[in-house]
Amino acid sequence: MSEARIDVHRDPTRMLETLREDVREGLSARAKWLPSKWFYDARGSELFEHITRLPEYYPTRVERDILRARAGEVADVTEARTIVELGSGSSEKTRLLLDAFAARGRLSEFVPLDVSEAALAASAEAIVADYPGLRVHGVVADFTEPLESLPGTPPRMVIFLGGTVGNFPPGERAKFLASIRSALTDGEWFLLGTDLIKDVDTLVRAYDDAAGVTAEFNRNVLRVINDRLGAGFEPEEFEHVARWDDRNEWIEMRLRARRGLTVNVPGADLTVTFAEGEELRTEISAKFRPEGVRAELAEAGFTLRRWWTDPAGLFGVSLAQARD
Ligand code: AVJ
Repeated sequence: MSEARIDVHRDPTRMLETLREDVREGLSARAKWLPSKWFYDARGSELFEHITRLPEYYPTRVERDILRARAGEVADVTEARTIVELGSGSSEKTRLLLDAFAARGRLSEFVPLDVSEAALAASAEAIVADYPGLRVHGVVADFTEPLESLPGTPPRMVIFLGGTVGNFPPGERAKFLASIRSALTDGEWFLLGTDLIKDVDTLVRAYDDAAGVTAEFNRNVLRVINDRLGAGFEPEEFEHVARWDDRNEWIEMRLRARRGLTVNVPGADLTVTFAEGEELRTEISAKFRPEGVRAELAEAGFTLRRWWTDPAGLFGVSLAQARD
């Protein structure tokens, strides 16, 4: 019985230091904000899994349909021997790719990378059990930090699904794409999922579901700060807000203080005040146009080899090759 190997490239002390800096910077800014990566402790990862099953949250379902239709083509075009998945979470959609590659008998290694050790360990174990002969080498790491060299037998394919690339502000997104390119050698592959611009109603409902799961997910960032920095947030004092920013073409999630509040954050040496109605931005989720995706990939040093969407054009999947 083989086991998944899990390497921890994340130093808990350093993580805590980064959280402390992010909280100090973001919560003392005039327009308060926090990076969205802090949603994802074990509970946040579970809440996100729940979101992916909500009727309003179309990206997961639509991307899965695209991957189901195209997985064989991805395997044939790339002939990749290693799949490296950034922000792998449950790796549920990735199984469609693993199945197609396994059917062709060439894939030797799967490298899921995630900040949540709990989510990673669970998915790595499940994949080891279901794909005999596949080496599974999980890496606990924060993909928003510059990527070091990637493990695995070439040619490798990095995959980054779900539209998570939209969580980077544009400047950081360009740096992130360039860092993926430089972690690959010429001719290796990148499979990218991007959520596309569509009517505002559909977009907003995907981030403000009727059951209130996204609201709980949003408030979870306050629980993470309570747990790790001893803060005194009462999550229910904040209302969930999802809004389309037409100029930037992104969805924003915010937490709005229902009344004036003062909150101590001892682990960051900080006392934060909120005026009634004041908002804290917790996430941006950019939505794309097909020509924009191609241009950003080209700018980062990739050539777009395939572009796939669903019939309604809700979501796009790009297969790109590292250019020399
Ligand atoms: C996991 C980053 C793709 O931006 O749509 C879901 C996270 N936020 N609902 C997204 C999320 C609110 C999600 N990603």
